[in-house]
Amino acid sequence: MTFTVAVGKVDEEITLQDLAHIDADELFTLVDRNRAYLRQWLPWLDLTQTADDSRALFRRQQTKADEGLSMLYGIEYRDELCGIAGFRGIDAVNRNCEIAYWVSEDRQGRGIVTRCVQALITYAFTTRELIRVTIPVAVDNHKSRAIPERLGFAREGILREAVWLYDHAVDVVLYALLRKD
Ligand SMILES: CC(C)(COP(=O)(O)OP(=O)(O)OC[C@H]1O[C@@H](n2cnc3c(N)ncnc32)[C@H](O)[C@@H]1OP(=O)(O)O)[C@@H](O)C(=O)NCCC(=O)NCCS
Repeated sequence: MTFTVAVGKVDEEITLQDLAHIDADELFTLVDRNRAYLRQWLPWLDLTQTADDSRALFRRQQTKADEGLSMLYGIEYRDELCGIAGFRGIDAVNRNCEIAYWVSEDRQGRGIVTRCVQALITYAFTTRELIRVTIPVAVDNHKSRAIPERLGFAREGILREAVWLYDHAVDVVLYALLRKD
C-alpha cells in the first residue's frame, strides 16, 4: 500500500498538492518567514536553515512515500502555498496512521487546517481503508488541539515528555478517530 496519489482538491479554495509539485525554494521562503511562529510548537525548525535543507526533506519524504510510510502535501490556499499537511507513521499492517499539519501565521483562522484534516481523514478511511487516525498535540497548543476536538476525535491520554522543543520536553495529548466512530 502506498500513499503516492495526491489527495487533490479539498474544496473551491484549498488543494493538497503532492510535494513533488511543490517548489523547495518557495517552501523554504514560507518556513523562513514563519520561523519564530512555527518554532513555538514544531521541533524541526533549526534543521531547516537553507533551501537545500528543504530539498533534502523532499528527498527523504519521497523515500518514505515510496516505502508507504508517510505522505505529505503542500497546502495551497487560493493557489498559493501556505503550509503542509499529511500522513506520517503509516502502519499498513495495523491500518493506522498519524496526521500532521502547519499553516502560515497569516493564513490562520480560516478553517484551512480543519478542512484539510477532514479531507485527509476521508481519504484515509475510504480510499486507503485505514481504521484509525491519530493526532498528537502538545498539551498547551490550544489552537492545534481545537482541530481534532472540532472533528470529533477522542482524547486517549497523555504521552509524557514525548516532544523535545529545543531546550525542553513537552507532554503531548494523543487524539484518535476510528473509522467506526
Ligand atoms: C494550529 C494551527 C495548525 C491551526 O491552523 P488554522 O488553519 O488556523 O486552524 P483551523 O483551520 O482549524 O481554523 C480554526 C478557526 O477558523 C475558523 N473557520 C473559518 N472558516 C472555517 C471553516 N470553513 N471550517 C472550520 N473552521 C473555520 C474556525 O471558526 C476557527 O476559529 P476560532 O479559532 O476563532 O475558533 C496553526 O495555528 C499552526 O500551524 N500553528 C503553528 C504550528 C502548529 O502548532 N502545528 C500543529 C502541531 S500539532
